[in-house]
Amino acid sequence: MEKVVSGIRPTGNLHLGNYFGAVRSFVKMQDEYDCMFFIADWHSLTTHPKPGDIQQSARTILAEYLACGIDPKKAPIYVQSDVPETLELYLYLNMNMYLGELERVTTFKEKARKQPDNVNAGLLTYPTLMAADILQHRAAKVPVGKDQEQNMEQARKCARRFNNIYGVDFFPEPQNFYFSDQAIKIPGLDGSGKMGKSEGNCIYLRDDDKTIRKKVMKAVTDAGPQEPNSPRPEVIENLFTFLRIVSSPEVYAHFDAQWNDCTLRYGDLKKQIAEDLCAMVAPIRERIEAFSADVDLLDRIAREGAEVARASAAATVREVRKIIGFRV
Ligand code: TYM
Repeated sequence: MEKVVSGIRPTGNLHLGNYFGAVRSFVKMQDEYDCMFFIADWHSLTTHPKPGDIQQSARTILAEYLACGIDPKKAPIYVQSDVPETLELYLYLNMNMYLGELERVTTFKEKARKQPDNVNAGLLTYPTLMAADILQHRAAKVPVGKDQEQNMEQARKCARRFNNIYGVDFFPEPQNFYFSDQAIKIPGLDGSGKMGKSEGNCIYLRDDDKTIRKKVMKAVTDAGPQEPNSPRPEVIENLFTFLRIVSSPEVYAHFDAQWNDCTLRYGDLKKQIAEDLCAMVAPIRERIEAFSADVDLLDRIAREGAEVARASAAATVREVRKIIGFRV
């Protein structure tokens, strides 16, 4: 069975970008593939060097994964820092990555701009650690959102380069997996590109109905459709992206027709999105609360997940050592 792996940094709560970009795919995949999901706590050190209670942050994400429907019996969940084998692979892969190419990765350039006082080596080699996360399980598929495309390109490069240098066909080139065959980018509703924690424009799976309604009703719009059948400006298309994802096709067609004949009222559109979002999020939120209360269960799931992940990673690292020529 093909292997699948993916992770999320525990730098806050899960938001709709994480959910629609990645977690929804995890849940879909766990029945058909050999899946493993993890919490990328090492990666979070690249931007949050003093992370506070990092174990509690990992529990938070774990409870949210479970609430979204990831079933640890089908798909073990682990914490990245519980699998030290990853680091050995990270070291070997880094030996084959070049400064120039790492410096050209867009996310590195963006992060370097955002935190000019902390352009650390971990930030530079972030894609290599991500490649190690994936390649240690020799995973074939990785469910991610559109923002991870370049990191995934680097992961494929790591796999290809290792295979070429040692003349082996050991690592598969991991492919991005998208829920409905298309890379998804959940926009922010404040008119600023994507929804993201560092953008401060997130709707969280933990948000209550009132908060969700408030956030949606505040979404940036414009003066309204001016000419029949005109293209939609980005901020309005963003609202339609939400509508497409959370509402039924009939509801989408209704508002789309209203846009096209210039009768659309943004207030109605936002109310519809807010109500459909509330209906989707409420049961997840309730499950998050229930799982969060059971710390023993969360810790047991993470421990059991780590055992499976370590066995898988150790087997790969052993092969890698043999291929390079180290004692095993
Ligand atoms: P992170 O923690 O930023 O985001 C986790 C997942 O959520 C997706 N995502 C989005 N998708 C669509 N629209 C958005 N607005 C949006 N915001 C976030 C991301 O694409 C991602 O899938 N580098 C990764 C963590 C990681 C990883 C890995 C992922 C580390 N190692 C190995 C896969 C495999 C990251 O920072 O994701």
